[in-house]
Amino acid sequence: MNLMCSKYTVQKLHETKEDNFIQSCTYYVCIFIICVLLFIIVLPYIHEPNIKIISVGDENIHMQEAELSKVISCYYNTPSEEADHQLLPDGINPLLCTHINVAFAKIINKQIYLTDFQIKTINEVLQLKKTNSKLKVLVSVGGSGNNDGFSDMVVNHAARKTFIRSVKYLLRNHSLDGIDLDWEFPAVHLQEAEQGKRERQHFSQLLREIRMEFIRERRNYLLTVALAAQQIIVDVSYDIDQINMYVDFANVMTYDFHYYTKFTPFTGLNSPLFARNSEHLYLATLNVNYTVQMFLTKGLNESKIVIGIPSYGHSFTLVNKDNAGIGSPALGYGNVGSIGFVNYPDICCFIKNNSDVIIVEEKNTKVPYLHKGTEWISYETPESVATKAEYIRQLKLRGAMIYSLNADDYRGRCGESLYNATNFPLVSSIKNILDT
Ligand SMILES: *[C@@H]1O[C@H](CO)[C@@H](O)[C@H](O)[C@H]1NC(C)=O
Ligand SMILES: *[C@@H]1O[C@H](CO)[C@@H](O)[C@H](O)[C@H]1NC(C)=O
Ligand SMILES: *[C@@H]1O[C@H](CO)[C@@H](O)[C@H](O)[C@H]1NC(C)=O
Ligand SMILES: *[C@@H]1O[C@H](CO)[C@@H](O)[C@H](O)[C@H]1NC(C)=O
Ligand SMILES: *[C@@H]1O[C@H](CO)[C@@H](O)[C@H](O)[C@H]1NC(C)=O
Repeated sequence: MNLMCSKYTVQKLHETKEDNFIQSCTYYVCIFIICVLLFIIVLPYIHEPNIKIISVGDENIHMQEAELSKVISCYYNTPSEEADHQLLPDGINPLLCTHINVAFAKIINKQIYLTDFQIKTINEVLQLKKTNSKLKVLVSVGGSGNNDGFSDMVVNHAARKTFIRSVKYLLRNHSLDGIDLDWEFPAVHLQEAEQGKRERQHFSQLLREIRMEFIRERRNYLLTVALAAQQIIVDVSYDIDQINMYVDFANVMTYDFHYYTKFTPFTGLNSPLFARNSEHLYLATLNVNYTVQMFLTKGLNESKIVIGIPSYGHSFTLVNKDNAGIGSPALGYGNVGSIGFVNYPDICCFIKNNSDVIIVEEKNTKVPYLHKGTEWISYETPESVATKAEYIRQLKLRGAMIYSLNADDYRGRCGESLYNATNFPLVSSIKNILDT
C-alpha cells in the first residue's frame, strides 16, 4: 500500500510542479490522509486473524463454476512399502473417479512433506490420466491429534506462507491438479475457547491465502477440504461461510458415526443415511441426512457438498450373541478386520465362509448390518451406496467422496462366483447412479 502511494506521489509531482504552494500542500495532506486511512483499513487484515474477508477478492473467485459436473472424489491410501496384496496405482480403474486424492502427505517444519515412495506413487497415479485425460489428481495433506502439523503452520502469516510456497512447488513439480486439506480438526484439542476461536480463524485464513495464491499464479489448481460430520466438531472448527467462499468443494466425512470405543461400548452403524425412529436428541444427529441439512443451514452451498461414503465397515464383538441389535453391548472390536475396520472384500468373504450369517436390512437408516455368534459388522453394499447416491442426486449435492479405493473390492472377489464380477463394486455402483 505504501509503495503504491509513493509511486503515485512521484508521478503527480511532475504534473503539479507549477501549482501554487497551497494546492500542492492540500494535495500532499490528502494523499497522506488517504494513505493513513488505507493503512488503518488494511492493517487488521495483515495482523489480525479475525477479520471478515475483503470483498475485492470475491470478484476474482470464480473457480470453474461453469462446469459443475458431478464429483466422485476417491481417496487412495499410498500402499506401504513392505506388505503385499495391496492396491497399486496400476490396479485403479482410471474411469471410475473424477478426482483421486493421494493420501496422506504430512506437514513437517511448516512444509508439505511426502516420502520418496509417496512421490513415486503419485507419479504412477498420474499415469492414469493417459486413459482418462479428465481425471484430476490431488495430494491430500492429513493431520490429527496433538501433533497434527497444522496447528504450528496456521498460527501466523509467515508460517502459512512457508507452507503455501511448499505446496506450490509440489503441485508444479509433479503436475498435480490441486490440494486437499484433511485437518482433524481445527481448534478441537485446544482447551481455551479464545485460542480455539483463533485456530478456526487461522484455518479460514489459510484457505483464503491458498486461493489467492492460486489466483495470483493464474493456475486452475483445486482446493478441497475434508470436513467433520458431527455437529459438535463442526461448531467449533469451521467458519462455514469462509469455507464456502474459498474451496472448490468439501468432502464431508459422513462416516464413523458409530464404532467401538471404551467410552461407546455399543454396536452402531458406521454411516446411516437417516435417523432411526427410536433415536432422539444427540443420537438423532448421527447420520448423513442430519449432517447435510446442518451444512446447508450453515450456508454451505449444495454445489460444494460432497458426501463421504465408506467402503469399509466397522466390526464389534457382542457381549451376548442373543442381544444383537443396534445399540447392543459390545466388549471390543470384532475378529474380522483390523482394529474394527473391515474392508469390503473381507465382509464378502465372511458371508461366503459362513452359512449362517444373519443379515439385517435396517429400514430407516438404509444400511445393513450382519451378525454371527458374537461377531457384529456394520457395512455398505452396492445397494446401500446406490441409495446414498440417489440421495445426493435428489438434493442436488455436488457428488460423492469414497473412503477409500483401497477398502473397496478392487480385485472383484465378492462377485468371483458370478458371471458379472466387477472390480470396485461399491464405487461402480455410486458412479452408475451419479452418471445417469
Ligand atoms: C521442485 O523443483 C525444484 C527445482 O526444479 C526444486 O528446487 C525443489 O526442491 C522441488 N520442490 C519439491 C517440493 O519437490
Ligand atoms: C432429513 O433431515 C431433515 C431436516 O432435519 C428432516 O426434516 C427430514 O425428515 C429428514 N429425512 C428423513 C427421511 O429422516
Ligand atoms: C450455489 O452455487 C450455485 C453454483 O455456483 C449458484 O448458482 C448459486 O447461486 C449458489 N447459491 C447460493 C444460495 O449462493
Ligand atoms: C474365509 O475363508 C478363507 C479360506 O478358509 C480364509 O482364508 C479367510 O480368511 C476367511 N475370511 C473370513 C473373513 O472369514
Ligand atoms: C450380477 O448379476 C446378478 C444376476 O443377474 C445381479 O443380481 C447382480 O446385481 C449383478 N451384480 C452386479 C454387481 O452387477
